[in-house]
Amino acid sequence: MKTVVNVALPKGRLGEKVYNMFKAAGYECPAIEEVNRKLVFENEEKSIRYFWVKPSDVAIYVERGAADIGVAGKDILLEYRPDVYELLDLNMGKCRMAVAAKQDFADSRESTLRVATKFPYIAQCFYDKKCRDIDIINLNGSIELAPLLGLSDVIVDIVETGSTLKANGLVVVEDIVPISARLIANKAGYKFKNGLIRNIVEKMAEQVEK
Ligand code: PRP
Repeated sequence: MKTVVNVALPKGRLGEKVYNMFKAAGYECPAIEEVNRKLVFENEEKSIRYFWVKPSDVAIYVERGAADIGVAGKDILLEYRPDVYELLDLNMGKCRMAVAAKQDFADSRESTLRVATKFPYIAQCFYDKKCRDIDIINLNGSIELAPLLGLSDVIVDIVETGSTLKANGLVVVEDIVPISARLIANKAGYKFKNGLIRNIVEKMAEQVEK
Protein backbone atom coordinates (compact mmCIF):
# COMPACT_ATOMS: atom_id res chain seq x y z
CA MET A 1 0.00 0.00 0.00
CA LYS A 2 1.28 3.44 -0.89
CA THR A 3 2.29 5.68 2.02
CA VAL A 4 0.12 8.76 2.30
CA VAL A 5 0.51 11.81 4.49
CA ASN A 6 -2.61 12.43 6.60
CA VAL A 7 -3.39 16.13 6.90
CA ALA A 8 -5.82 17.65 9.44
CA LEU A 9 -7.26 20.86 8.00
CA PRO A 10 -9.18 23.34 10.16
CA LYS A 11 -12.78 23.36 8.97
CA GLY A 12 -14.03 26.81 7.94
CA ARG A 13 -12.79 29.87 6.15
CA LEU A 14 -9.17 29.53 7.26
CA GLY A 15 -9.19 25.86 6.26
CA GLU A 16 -10.30 26.70 2.75
CA LYS A 17 -7.44 29.17 2.41
CA VAL A 18 -5.05 26.60 3.80
CA TYR A 19 -6.29 23.96 1.35
CA ASN A 20 -5.77 26.45 -1.52
CA MET A 21 -2.21 26.84 -0.32
CA PHE A 22 -1.71 23.05 -0.40
CA LYS A 23 -3.26 23.06 -3.87
CA ALA A 24 -0.93 25.79 -5.10
CA ALA A 25 1.95 23.83 -3.57
CA GLY A 26 1.04 20.89 -5.84
CA TYR A 27 -1.06 18.81 -3.42
CA GLU A 28 -4.49 19.27 -4.93
CA CYS A 29 -7.35 16.89 -4.22
CA PRO A 30 -10.24 17.65 -6.60
CA ALA A 31 -12.80 15.70 -4.52
CA ILE A 32 -12.43 18.17 -1.64
CA GLU A 33 -13.69 20.98 -3.86
CA GLU A 34 -17.07 19.29 -4.41
CA VAL A 35 -19.76 20.59 -2.07
CA ASN A 36 -20.77 17.75 0.24
CA ARG A 37 -20.58 16.70 3.87
CA LYS A 38 -17.69 14.28 3.51
CA LEU A 39 -14.81 14.72 5.91
CA VAL A 40 -12.02 12.61 4.36
CA PHE A 41 -10.50 13.14 0.90
CA GLU A 42 -7.57 11.39 -0.70
CA ASN A 43 -5.37 11.91 -3.73
CA GLU A 44 -3.33 8.74 -3.85
CA GLU A 45 -1.24 9.93 -6.74
CA LYS A 46 -0.05 12.85 -4.60
CA SER A 47 0.28 10.63 -1.52
CA ILE A 48 -2.02 12.88 0.48
CA ARG A 49 -5.21 12.47 2.46
CA TYR A 50 -7.07 15.44 3.99
CA PHE A 51 -9.55 15.51 6.91
CA TRP A 52 -11.75 18.43 7.91
CA VAL A 53 -11.39 18.84 11.65
CA LYS A 54 -12.78 21.40 14.11
CA PRO A 55 -9.98 24.04 14.27
CA SER A 56 -9.44 23.67 18.01
CA ASP A 57 -9.10 19.85 17.59
CA VAL A 58 -6.36 19.84 14.92
CA ALA A 59 -3.55 19.70 17.48
CA ILE A 60 -5.16 16.69 19.20
CA TYR A 61 -5.35 14.71 15.94
CA VAL A 62 -1.73 15.55 15.18
CA GLU A 63 -0.38 14.95 18.68
CA ARG A 64 -2.01 11.51 18.81
CA GLY A 65 -0.92 10.58 15.30
CA ALA A 66 -4.38 10.32 13.70
CA ALA A 67 -2.98 13.00 11.38
CA ASP A 68 0.70 13.28 10.43
CA ILE A 69 0.53 17.02 9.88
CA GLY A 70 -2.08 19.75 10.33
CA VAL A 71 -2.67 23.45 10.55
CA ALA A 72 -3.41 24.98 13.93
CA GLY A 73 -3.51 28.51 15.31
CA LYS A 74 -0.64 29.61 17.53
CA ASP A 75 -3.31 30.40 20.16
CA ILE A 76 -4.20 26.70 20.44
CA LEU A 77 -0.52 25.69 20.50
CA LEU A 78 0.23 28.15 23.31
CA GLU A 79 -2.84 27.21 25.31
CA TYR A 80 -2.69 23.40 25.08
CA ARG A 81 1.06 22.93 24.47
CA PRO A 82 0.63 19.74 22.40
CA ASP A 83 3.76 17.61 21.97
CA VAL A 84 4.18 18.26 18.23
CA TYR A 85 6.73 19.84 15.91
CA GLU A 86 5.93 23.34 14.69
CA LEU A 87 7.28 23.31 11.12
CA LEU A 88 6.18 26.51 9.42
CA ASP A 89 4.44 29.83 10.08
CA LEU A 90 1.89 30.09 7.26
CA ASN A 91 1.51 33.84 7.84
CA MET A 92 -2.27 33.61 7.51
CA GLY A 93 -5.16 33.60 9.98
CA LYS A 94 -3.37 36.51 11.58
CA CYS A 95 -4.75 38.08 14.74
CA ARG A 96 -3.54 38.79 18.26
CA MET A 97 -4.23 37.69 21.80
CA ALA A 98 -5.05 40.69 23.92
CA VAL A 99 -6.51 41.92 27.18
CA ALA A 100 -9.62 44.04 26.66
CA ALA A 101 -11.95 45.87 28.98
CA LYS A 102 -14.62 48.56 29.13
CA GLN A 103 -13.38 51.97 28.08
CA ASP A 104 -13.39 53.36 31.62
CA PHE A 105 -11.50 50.40 33.14
CA ALA A 106 -8.36 51.07 35.17
CA ASP A 107 -6.71 48.32 37.20
CA SER A 108 -6.46 49.62 40.77
CA ARG A 109 -4.59 46.43 41.83
CA GLU A 110 -6.56 46.54 45.08
CA SER A 111 -8.50 43.34 44.54
CA THR A 112 -8.12 40.12 42.55
CA LEU A 113 -8.63 40.81 38.86
CA ARG A 114 -11.47 38.82 37.32
CA VAL A 115 -10.47 37.58 33.86
CA ALA A 116 -12.95 35.91 31.49
CA THR A 117 -11.38 33.79 28.76
CA LYS A 118 -11.29 30.67 26.60
CA PHE A 119 -7.50 30.67 27.13
CA PRO A 120 -6.89 30.16 30.88
CA TYR A 121 -3.27 29.00 30.53
CA ILE A 122 -2.24 31.96 28.35
CA ALA A 123 -4.05 34.36 30.69
CA GLN A 124 -2.50 32.83 33.83
CA CYS A 125 1.05 32.98 32.38
CA PHE A 126 0.57 36.57 31.31
CA TYR A 127 -0.56 37.74 34.76
CA ASP A 128 1.92 35.51 36.64
CA LYS A 129 4.73 37.43 34.93
CA LYS A 130 3.23 40.64 36.28
CA CYS A 131 2.71 39.11 39.73
CA ARG A 132 -0.94 40.05 39.50
CA ASP A 133 -3.50 37.86 41.28
CA ILE A 134 -6.33 36.86 39.03
CA ASP A 135 -9.53 34.87 39.17
CA ILE A 136 -10.07 33.06 35.88
CA ILE A 137 -13.62 32.73 34.61
CA ASN A 138 -13.67 30.02 31.94
CA LEU A 139 -16.11 30.71 29.14
CA ASN A 140 -16.57 28.98 25.78
CA GLY A 141 -17.60 31.88 23.58
CA SER A 142 -19.10 35.40 23.42
CA ILE A 143 -16.38 36.39 25.89
CA GLU A 144 -17.07 40.08 25.23
CA LEU A 145 -20.29 39.80 27.22
CA ALA A 146 -18.51 39.18 30.51
CA PRO A 147 -17.31 42.74 31.30
CA LEU A 148 -20.57 44.19 30.00
CA LEU A 149 -22.57 42.17 32.52
CA GLY A 150 -20.10 42.67 35.37
CA LEU A 151 -19.06 39.01 35.30
CA SER A 152 -15.40 39.99 34.81
CA ASP A 153 -13.14 43.07 34.90
CA VAL A 154 -11.27 42.16 31.71
CA ILE A 155 -11.19 39.51 29.00
CA VAL A 156 -8.27 37.71 27.39
CA ASP A 157 -9.32 36.89 23.85
CA ILE A 158 -8.50 36.88 20.17
CA VAL A 159 -8.76 40.22 18.38
CA GLU A 160 -8.78 40.12 14.61
CA THR A 161 -10.44 43.18 13.09
CA GLY A 162 -11.41 44.63 16.46
CA SER A 163 -15.01 45.01 15.34
CA THR A 164 -16.47 42.73 18.06
CA LEU A 165 -14.77 44.79 20.76
CA LYS A 166 -15.85 48.06 19.17
CA ALA A 167 -19.46 46.96 18.75
CA ASN A 168 -19.56 46.17 22.46
CA GLY A 169 -17.81 49.30 23.75
CA LEU A 170 -14.62 47.47 24.74
CA VAL A 171 -11.01 48.47 24.05
CA VAL A 172 -7.68 46.66 24.00
CA VAL A 173 -5.80 47.35 27.23
CA GLU A 174 -2.67 45.30 26.46
CA ASP A 175 -1.42 43.04 23.68
CA ILE A 176 -0.24 39.60 24.77
CA VAL A 177 1.05 37.84 21.64
CA PRO A 178 0.60 37.88 17.85
CA ILE A 179 -1.14 34.79 16.44
CA SER A 180 -1.02 33.07 13.04
CA ALA A 181 -1.65 29.63 11.54
CA ARG A 182 1.18 27.09 11.90
CA LEU A 183 1.94 23.86 10.07
CA ILE A 184 2.53 21.21 12.74
CA ALA A 185 3.61 17.57 12.62
CA ASN A 186 3.28 14.46 14.72
CA LYS A 187 6.74 13.59 16.06
CA ALA A 188 6.73 9.91 15.02
CA GLY A 189 5.02 10.65 11.71
CA TYR A 190 7.68 13.26 10.95
CA LYS A 191 10.35 10.60 11.41
CA PHE A 192 8.69 7.80 9.43
CA LYS A 193 7.35 9.94 6.58
CA ASN A 194 10.24 12.38 6.66
CA GLY A 195 10.83 12.62 2.90
CA LEU A 196 7.17 13.19 2.06
CA ILE A 197 6.62 15.69 4.86
CA ARG A 198 9.78 17.65 4.12
CA ASN A 199 8.71 17.96 0.49
CA ILE A 200 5.37 19.35 1.63
CA VAL A 201 7.03 21.84 3.98
CA GLU A 202 9.40 22.99 1.26
CA LYS A 203 6.60 23.49 -1.27
CA MET A 204 4.36 25.17 1.29
CA ALA A 205 7.16 27.53 2.34
CA GLU A 206 7.30 28.76 -1.27
CA GLN A 207 3.59 29.66 -1.01
CA VAL A 208 3.85 31.67 2.20
CA GLU A 209 3.14 35.34 1.57
CA LYS A 210 5.86 37.44 3.05
C1 PRP B 1 -13.44 35.36 18.02
C2 PRP B 1 -12.99 36.07 19.26
C3 PRP B 1 -13.70 37.38 19.18
C4 PRP B 1 -13.77 37.64 17.68
C5 PRP B 1 -12.72 38.63 17.30
O1 PRP B 1 -14.66 34.82 18.27
O2 PRP B 1 -13.31 35.32 20.41
O3 PRP B 1 -14.98 37.29 19.72
O4 PRP B 1 -13.53 36.40 17.02
O5 PRP B 1 -12.79 38.99 15.95
P1 PRP B 1 -12.84 40.53 15.49
O6 PRP B 1 -11.77 41.26 16.19
O7 PRP B 1 -12.58 40.46 13.98
O8 PRP B 1 -14.20 41.06 15.79
P2 PRP B 1 -15.30 33.67 17.42
O9 PRP B 1 -15.87 34.24 16.16
O10 PRP B 1 -14.33 32.58 17.25
O11 PRP B 1 -16.53 33.22 18.32
P3 PRP B 1 -16.72 32.94 19.88
O12 PRP B 1 -17.59 34.04 20.37
O13 PRP B 1 -17.37 31.61 19.91
O14 PRP B 1 -15.38 32.94 20.57
